[in-house]
Amino acid sequence: MHAFQLWREFKLSLWEVFQLFPKNEIVYADKTVCILDVQDSESIIKIASRMWGVIKIIKLFQDYRGKPQFSICDIAEKYEGKFAYGVSLLWWDTNLKAILIEIKKTLKAKGISSRFVNKDFKSLSSAQILGENLVKKGSDFTIVIADDTEYFGQTIWVQDINAYSKRDYGKARDMQVGMLPPKLSQIMINISGGSQVYDPFCGLGTILIESILMGNTSVFGSDISPENIEKTKQNLNFARKEFQNNLKTSLTQVLDAKWISSSPFLKKSDVIVTEWYLGQVFHKHSVTQEKINIEKKNLLDIYTKFFAGLQKANYSWVIVICFPFWEMRGKYSYFNEVYDLIQKYCKNLPILPKHEEFKHTRSGSLLYKRPDQVVGREIFKLKLKK
Ligand SMILES: C[S@@+](CC[C@H](N)C(=O)[O-])C[C@H]1O[C@@H](n2cnc3c(N)ncnc32)[C@H](O)[C@@H]1O
Repeated sequence: MHAFQLWREFKLSLWEVFQLFPKNEIVYADKTVCILDVQDSESIIKIASRMWGVIKIIKLFQDYRGKPQFSICDIAEKYEGKFAYGVSLLWWDTNLKAILIEIKKTLKAKGISSRFVNKDFKSLSSAQILGENLVKKGSDFTIVIADDTEYFGQTIWVQDINAYSKRDYGKARDMQVGMLPPKLSQIMINISGGSQVYDPFCGLGTILIESILMGNTSVFGSDISPENIEKTKQNLNFARKEFQNNLKTSLTQVLDAKWISSSPFLKKSDVIVTEWYLGQVFHKHSVTQEKINIEKKNLLDIYTKFFAGLQKANYSWVIVICFPFWEMRGKYSYFNEVYDLIQKYCKNLPILPKHEEFKHTRSGSLLYKRPDQVVGREIFKLKLKK
């Protein structure tokens, strides 16, 4: 069994995990961790390089005897030199002092020289685990509490937190256009299940670049703005040159998404992953329902023509798409008109298995919003009705 430590947007993380491991039994899941009955660590590590909603993956010891020190001793005995290790606890941020001291004592009694790297007896962050190179050494350990059961295991993979800062394709970025966070783009691509991504509102090409970085071989993008298509091309060239990739085909063209039925990319790609404009930027103190309604009206015309165009083209692949929702005085205001549109043209694809802990919204979507922002993203996985 393996435990997956989840990102703060845990429903999106779970969606990604379930999409990538559809056949494995879910042993346990909560807001912090999900345990899957999957045995082969090697194959998990291969998939992990394209997972973005997971912070850390832990191989759980089958023979755990309820005392971490015993399992750690078994491993430490095989080491030469001082044994540096870390211990974390999921999911409470409890002080680990008693546990760490007990482990240290047991190791000492066995004549093993050791050092725990935990600072102030707290669980380790990804940065600490990476900084101390603990995954490679096989010496990062985690206690996982799942209801009444305690598990213990060894980290086999931790997310490279530096990977995002390495994405320097921001050369042609323009924050005015509004950019989908790279992490969310990756998760959307993963939950789409496709590998030849088409983004018909490609902006500066974030989704397409993330798809390339995930190892996909073909990307397709269109946008109404010739300048943005030019910038997307620059960014795609940058990604092709600067990052390891398997890219064979990258095609872009200027196209108003109202005329999506004429797009040559509908036949070349195997999925649409996209986000259009989220509307104007509102501030907490100035947002009103009237302003939101005006925004919705502007947006709805394009969405209506977009879905009608896809229907006209008999588009049969999956569509993963974000729509905006807004927070107004602590309450969410949803884009109900879009729900009618979705109902008219599409069927909602199942997101998460039925579970008390992780219900999706009534409209079958999942939400992503930064606490400081008024606008959030409502993410749907859809297929056109036949
Ligand atoms: C927020 S950006 C899209 C972000 C992009 N999906 C990404 O990966 O970062 C919105 C884009 O929609 C484009 N756009 C606006 N109206 C459009 C339309 N009718 N058809 C196609 N593109 C449109 C804009 O030019 C802009 O580049």
